[in-house]
Amino acid sequence: MNTDYNTIKTTLEEGILTITINRPDKMNALNKDVITELGSALNKVNDNPEIKAAIITGEGNRAFVAGADISEFDTLDAAGGAKLAQRGADLVFDRIEHSKKPVIAAVNGFALGGGCELAMACHFRTASTNAQFGQPEVNLGLIPGYGGTQRLVQLVGKGRAMELLISAQMLKADKALDWGLVNHVFEPENLLEETRKILKNILTKAPIAIEHIITLVNEAATVSKEGFSMEVEKFGACFATEDKKEGTLAFMEKRKADFKGK
Ligand code: COA
Repeated sequence: MNTDYNTIKTTLEEGILTITINRPDKMNALNKDVITELGSALNKVNDNPEIKAAIITGEGNRAFVAGADISEFDTLDAAGGAKLAQRGADLVFDRIEHSKKPVIAAVNGFALGGGCELAMACHFRTASTNAQFGQPEVNLGLIPGYGGTQRLVQLVGKGRAMELLISAQMLKADKALDWGLVNHVFEPENLLEETRKILKNILTKAPIAIEHIITLVNEAATVSKEGFSMEVEKFGACFATEDKKEGTLAFMEKRKADFKGK
């Protein structure tokens, strides 16, 4: 196990780097340090020839990742919000999507907000029977900022994505499987082993061919590159609203938000 990190753990086994987000007391929420350390681990995935593929998962049995760390939103204005979203895209989300080597999400509990977006940036997803997916940003007066409005449409289609995004409704593992958001569902105790088995088979195939396929499937799925930059801008714009102040404060105070549309 690599002990260079504080907020993630990495283990390399038979060419597969397992990256575990390690803030279980905060539902593995993505704070600035997690994004930095994930970025550094992803650099290693691409640069280290001993690493052939990666799995991203969460520590504990409750959450994969319950979103961006809401406690860091307090002081951000519109420019700060947009900067946070763009930094995540540059260091983590786009880097995963465009990784030359397969990166798979093994979703072991809540995958909400940035957690659902992290899983969706991966090349495909496996999940445990207790996984739940959702984009609950509207509960906070926000929208997804890590590509969720774009990648959810790619994966489940416009109507389903629209409803999930504007209702904050959560999707259980069996429905996520039915909707094509995940490829396989396993019992929690088997999730990592079964995901490794899938990757081990993939690793018997030609690496250069795999790299080209990743590029081409990404190209086929990306309807509009502009959609991603528009999302960053509009995510930032939400930070200038009273609804965002109320929504994030209500979450920290563990109460329901009272939105005014301002
Ligand atoms: N950012 C920061 N802290 C978070 C967090 C997030 N996204 N998600 C959970 N936490 C923290 C909680 O504040 C709590 O901290 P505390 O023990 O210091 O009070 C701890 O993790 C446990 O979460 P809690 O809400 O008490 O657990 P729960 O079982 O009642 O609910 C969830 C679990 C995942 C449903 C709930 O935590 C949740 O809705 N999280 C936010 C999801 C979200 O809106 N994500 C999008 C962010 S943009």
